[in-house]
Amino acid sequence: MRQLSENILDITMNSVRAGASLISVILTEDPPMLTITIADNGCGMTAEFLEKVVDPFCTTRTTRKVGLGIPFFKMEAEQTGGSFSIESTPNVGTTVTASFDQSSIDALPLGDMPETVMTLISSGPDRDFLFLHARPQEEIRLDTRELRGQLGDLPLDTPEVLLWVRDYLREQYGENDPDRSVPNQS
Ligand SMILES: Nc1ncnc2c1ncn2[C@@H]1O[C@H](COP(=O)(O)OP(=O)(O)OP(=O)(O)O)[C@@H](O)[C@H]1O
Ligand SMILES: [Mg+2]
Repeated sequence: MRQLSENILDITMNSVRAGASLISVILTEDPPMLTITIADNGCGMTAEFLEKVVDPFCTTRTTRKVGLGIPFFKMEAEQTGGSFSIESTPNVGTTVTASFDQSSIDALPLGDMPETVMTLISSGPDRDFLFLHARPQEEIRLDTRELRGQLGDLPLDTPEVLLWVRDYLREQYGENDPDRSVPNQS
């Protein structure tokens, strides 16, 4: 994986498959560290299962298929000199936290978060997402619970809403900054 957004998508899709009705994706920048927290209220995991999930190569025999999303996320965080943790409680939910030293030569670019959030929301109309990216100078935020109030009967995963979400986030990231498209008037 060449971008952190791909890891974020993979870890968050685990939460989707765990049947979560609310998933938070929170990015906190405290240069040079970037901390990514993905929390859900899904089915959770037992302590015994969790151990195998984090370190699939240490178990001699497992009945489940070996997934690599979580081990890769952990490895990528630790390779930069950052850290990784996961907490889970059956029937309560799961929280995955990974911090990355963005000044490390092994650091990956964040990637396209507007596109990633749009893809996540397209996973179904009944699930809510809180996306928060706390940057040094500003906070980028989207809460589908607040968005629902404005949408009325329109489902969250309709194309118009999804594209609106992506463009709204792009704008907050300064990617559609109108000042940048003003022609040079000299
Ligand atoms: N948030 C979560 N809630 C409940 N169970 C989870 C959660 N995240 C992971 N799991 C369990 O841990 C397993 C391993 O997750 P992991 O992301 O490492 O691999 P995977 O999703 O099975 O496969 P992939 O390699 O495609 O990601 C999942 O199959 C699931 O059983
Ligand atoms: Mg996975």
